[in-house]
Amino acid sequence: MESQETSARGVWGSKVAFIFAATGSAIGLGNIWRFPTVVSQNGGAVFVLVYVLAVAVIGFTVMLAELTLGRHSQRNPVGAIDYIKPGSPWKFIGYLGIITGICLLSFYAVVAGWAAGYVFKTAAGAFKGQLTAEMTTKIFADFSSDPLQVFIFFGLIMGLTIFIISKGVKKGIEKWTKILMPALFVLIVLLAVRALTLPGAAKGLSFYLNPDFSKLNGTVILFAVGQAFFSLSLGMGTMITYGSYISKSSNLVSSAGWVSFADTFIALLAGLIIFPTLVSFGQPVDVGGEGLAFQIFPLILSQFAGGYIFGILFFTLLTVAALTSTISLLEVPVSYFVDERNWSRKKAVLVIGIFTFILGIPSALSMGGMQFFTKLKFLGFFAFAFGNISLAVGAFFICVFVGYIWGRKKAFKEIASGNPRFRLRYIWAFSLMVLTPIVILIILYFIKTIAG
Ligand code: TRP
Repeated sequence: MESQETSARGVWGSKVAFIFAATGSAIGLGNIWRFPTVVSQNGGAVFVLVYVLAVAVIGFTVMLAELTLGRHSQRNPVGAIDYIKPGSPWKFIGYLGIITGICLLSFYAVVAGWAAGYVFKTAAGAFKGQLTAEMTTKIFADFSSDPLQVFIFFGLIMGLTIFIISKGVKKGIEKWTKILMPALFVLIVLLAVRALTLPGAAKGLSFYLNPDFSKLNGTVILFAVGQAFFSLSLGMGTMITYGSYISKSSNLVSSAGWVSFADTFIALLAGLIIFPTLVSFGQPVDVGGEGLAFQIFPLILSQFAGGYIFGILFFTLLTVAALTSTISLLEVPVSYFVDERNWSRKKAVLVIGIFTFILGIPSALSMGGMQFFTKLKFLGFFAFAFGNISLAVGAFFICVFVGYIWGRKKAFKEIASGNPRFRLRYIWAFSLMVLTPIVILIILYFIKTIAG
């Protein structure tokens, strides 16, 4: 049932529909492509430990703040802030989110294109027969450095995203996630079970789950917190926008908890697949690289009797998981131009979609397609700048805004609708107003250890 205050913009069909859509936004390449890569490059288990802590404390705090702000104001990020503090400069948080979203989408859609390309590669039989890690590494290198193939699939992803978003919130987003996310989940569990029974699995598991605390440093924390924001879709207003479609009777606290839990679960499973497989195929566990997931998943898929069909299915579902994320990224700028600038939905989607495609060209050419962008490691740089740093900056200001400017008491009141007894509210407020902002300031300080 639609509540009257939101019927003009649409509201989620039910609480479950919102959870599916928000989980669909959260679960994507961040879990399956990015997470194993950053684990691999940042010391393994110790990173995993910091990551889980970061999700439980910082991620959950920011998620609840965003959902609360969104549902209270029933608006896009810029409008939400303007609704609470009319005409104030705090609106820059919303603008920052819109810019971040567009930049993030520009490289994210390139990687989503790799996943789509792999559907066809698998179907064409590229991964049939006895595979070695050298073979899958070469297949990835050849594919990702070929501008023609990369652009076809990058274009396909942007086209699909534009198409889905232009159809509107309910029909567009809800339909996809409900059926296909559970299918992805089942497949990933199967792959994890297979990976755990490979010879050498124990050694891979040890890197992944047995922390070596001598590897703990500022960079590990910076990447863990950044990855938490990226994977949970936080720090740029996605969850403000999604929260604006939640009905007043929904429990925001349990929604935030459930989305964080489901997202983390999938990421942890992806690691359970990647690391045992790496060891079993004689590869180093700590080298990583943007191609890691694309090199390793075909290997584990080849260990199944029905690997060919499983492979097609896996990359199809990964593409869908990426699409439910790309639509959530495009939805933020689009809802801004529709709500605040009175653009038609069609116009907003087309203009921003095409702009994003153009912005993604350097990323698409940065895996060998063009020397200049390859040398700059453009995709990796964009992933770090917009998939980590600028989300952290956004999350910092969201915490400050919700905690101090809007005020924790008003946030409590909004949360109380749907959850009249929010027991952890003082702990949440402490994390919102003190702990999380301080942690973010500290990690931003560590950027210099990477730059230098
Ligand atoms: N969380 C998604 C993933 O893990 C990516 C994503 C979608 C995102 N929307 C976002 C990241 C908003 C940051 C902000 O693949």
